[in-house]
Amino acid sequence: MTTTANPPSRGGFAVVVVAAGSGTRLGAGIPKALVEIDGRTILDHCLAGVAAAAPEGTGWQSVVVTVPAGDTELTRVAAAHGALAVDGGNTRVASVRNALEALADRSPAPRAVLVHDAARCLTPAGVFGAVRAALETGHGAVIPVLPVVDTIRQVDEDGDCHGTVDRSHLRAVQTPQGFDWDLLREVNRAAGTAHDELITDDASLVEQFSDVPVHTVAGDEESLKITRPMDLLLARAILAARAQHQNQIQNQETA
Ligand code: CTP
Ligand code: MG
Repeated sequence: MTTTANPPSRGGFAVVVVAAGSGTRLGAGIPKALVEIDGRTILDHCLAGVAAAAPEGTGWQSVVVTVPAGDTELTRVAAAHGALAVDGGNTRVASVRNALEALADRSPAPRAVLVHDAARCLTPAGVFGAVRAALETGHGAVIPVLPVVDTIRQVDEDGDCHGTVDRSHLRAVQTPQGFDWDLLREVNRAAGTAHDELITDDASLVEQFSDVPVHTVAGDEESLKITRPMDLLLARAILAARAQHQNQIQNQETA
């Protein structure tokens, strides 16, 4: 197993929840993290999941949430969960940078940080646990992934096909993505700010700006990213199934 040059040695685990996006593809007319599912905002669902996944005994060292500049509503949701809200940037990677700056101001610095999309508001605790466990065994960068189920074809500008991609080596990438603190800081510094629009996740910075391998763990279908209106239907169905499961357990206990 390959480890980082600087194995984690300080602090605990911090979480960055990025919630500063506008949600263009969802098209709700309000920031996506404020959209409600079953009467609770996406950010509220997400932070409840983060809390439920906290390391036993120690909890998370800090939870930082990026919110759209000028926001007050998401800031209130963050505060209700004991999280610190900071202004996000124009791109996801700029938002993450702001959150890392806020964490760097705190003492001691965390040993590792999990970066999570607020839009993945139903991520099961087991995924957080798997990422954290891989970090604890010395991996410097860890991402949850799922196999790709669709057939993937390459097409040209005219819409004509040019072969099928072998999907056995392809994976769809989720969050939370976990990183050794020093490594994530280093690659963000090395990347600068010139290509922010091209960077859609944090692990790609590790690939481009370090020689530390990115390790994969199993993601979860319930960790879907709310992106388009159809995803809200799925999220409601997942919540309904979870509620039904809870009821069954309670009924068994009282029977
Ligand atoms: N995000 C962020 N800051 C940005 C852009 C995105 O904190 N400048 C966050 C979003 O809030 C979201 C996560 O990054 O939780 C993943 O981004 P995405 O799903 O693309 O959300 P949006 O950018 O809000 O959606 P869209 O691209 O449809 O506008
Ligand atoms: Mg986006």
